[in-house]
Order: sequence, then C-alpha cells, then structure tokens
Amino acid sequence: MNSSLTAIATSANSKMKNAPSMNVLPEREMTSEQYSRLRDLIYQKLGLFFEDSKVYFLKRRVERRLVALQLDRVDEYIFYLRFSDENGREMQELANLITTNETYMFREYEQLEAFSNHCLPEILEAKRKRSDRCLRIWSAGCSSGEEPYTLAIILREVIANIADWEIEIVASDVDSNMLRSVEAANYGDRSVKDVPEQYFDRHLVCNGASYQVRPETKRLVRACHLNLHDRLTMRAMRGFDFIFCRNVLIYFDDASRKSVVDHFYSALNAGGYIFLGHSESIGRISSAYTLVRRGNYLTYQKP
Ligand SMILES: C[S@@+](CC[C@H](N)C(=O)[O-])C[C@H]1O[C@@H](n2cnc3c(N)ncnc32)[C@H](O)[C@@H]1O
Repeated sequence: MNSSLTAIATSANSKMKNAPSMNVLPEREMTSEQYSRLRDLIYQKLGLFFEDSKVYFLKRRVERRLVALQLDRVDEYIFYLRFSDENGREMQELANLITTNETYMFREYEQLEAFSNHCLPEILEAKRKRSDRCLRIWSAGCSSGEEPYTLAIILREVIANIADWEIEIVASDVDSNMLRSVEAANYGDRSVKDVPEQYFDRHLVCNGASYQVRPETKRLVRACHLNLHDRLTMRAMRGFDFIFCRNVLIYFDDASRKSVVDHFYSALNAGGYIFLGHSESIGRISSAYTLVRRGNYLTYQKP
C-alpha cells in the first residue's frame, strides 16, 4: 500500500475509535462514477446487482456508513472497503443494510403444498426403501427464519415417527442481523399471519406481543452465515434433499445466478428438488435440472 493510501485508511481507523455519536445525516453526494465502483464492489463480494435506478437507495445506505465511520467523502468509503476492510467487517455492515429481507411464514402456499404433498413423500419413500433415515434441507437466503421454520412445521406435521429420522434444516443468510432473528425464533403478527390455524398452537407459543417457535420445532433448524456468492463455502455444501432459495436470486444477475444454481446442483442429492420463488426460473441459465410438475406446481429436480 502506498503512503497516501495508508493515510486515508489510518485516518478512517482513528476516526472510528474516537467517533462521537452523530444523529444528523450530512448530505454526501455520490457521483455516477462512485456509484459504479460501489456497485462493482458489492457485486464482486455478494453477487447482488444494483440497477442504475437504485442510486438513491444505495446512497442513503452508504451515508449511514459514512456517519458511523466518521468519513466525509464517498471516495474515502470506497477506499476503506477496498483496502482497509481486511476482515470483511465493513462489507458485512453494508450487506446488512442493502439486503432485502421481506419474508413471512407459509409464503407461496401452493408451492409448499407441492413440497409437502408430493415431493417430500416421494423422497421419504425412496429413503425408507434404502434404509436411509437422514433428511437434509437447505433454506438458502432464509432472512429472519420464517421459511426454515415453516419447513420445520411441515416436516413435523407430515412425517410419522419423526423421531426415527435424523433431520437437519440449514438456514443460511449473508445478513448477520437476520441470523440473530433465526436463532431467537420469535416473531410478530405479520410473520405468522398465514400460519394455518390448526398448526398454530402446536408450533408457536404466544408471549404477549410475539410468538415463539416451540423448542421441538426449533430444534430442526440450524442457522449458518453463508454468502451464496462465495465459491469456497458453496463448494463445501453437500448432501441436501431439498434446497429452497426463494426470492433471493431476483437480486442477482444472470452470471451470479448461474454460479449459485450450479453450486446448488452439486449440493443436491440425485432426485433432490430445488424450489425458487414464483417469479424465478433457472431454465434460461442451466439445463442441468429437469423441470417437473408436482401437483399444480412446476419445480426443478436433479436427475
Ligand atoms: C427477500 S429475502 C427471502 C427470504 C425467504 N427466502 C422468502 O422467500 O421469504 C432475501 C434474502 O436473501 C439474502 N441474500 C441476499 N444476497 C445473499 C447472498 N449473497 N448470500 C446469502 N444470502 C443472500 C438476503 O440477506 C435476504 O435475507
């Protein structure tokens, strides 16, 4: 690193340590050139692609980081991200601000019906025949956990003698704040509004203003920090019967989407299924999967 680069980095570090708290966001302009550089950095790290129309969104988030780091200019921030963020902590802070975390339990009900009424019984039956009692599901991009807990509720409802099975639902997200919510497993009204009435008390306990997932359902889910755009981590993911990656890849571009979907292929067992959001399709980016109809629903299966 040359001396002027070190100077900016050192200045940012010392400012952070002595930073007084600031309540007012100063106006900090972002040029289109700075926007492009930030967008590239985010894309390289997370695979998320920001359209030109997202300038204002990104600018507002970066302003918050400038205030937190006591930096005056967007250039300083970009420099800090590129050369001084050795442990990735700042990129993590930024990731937590720019990800879209919208989710709720039993989202896209028709798809869940295809899973519970068709795909799950098929996989369980095949496993029973070969005396395999291990079932693994990956909720990739799980946000605050409503999706993996929905899957846990379904498994507990559908699988007879569930105690005979070794079950793991890996709930992963790149947003570290969301993973804390997964671990807490405590949800507000909006998250639970679509939980079918007959499941409610069996899996959720009302704690006044919120709902706690019951321990026997919670136990099936394991939270894990994972960046879908990190090839090394992705290569280590293996042995899943189902992958749910819903409403995540819409924020990626075709190249980063393809890379994720190719890794999912290696992560799935033969015959395993992948469930994407209803507006997402992998037909255009990968021919490896077979498009299959299960009930009223079209989904992808690894041959
Ligand atoms: C809209 S939520 C989807 C939640 C849930 N799957 C659903 O459909 O309700 C998208 C999630 O994807 C996560 N995400 C975005 N980019 C990611 C990446 N590179 N690696 C892992 N997760 C990512 C976000 O943090 C966010 O929580």
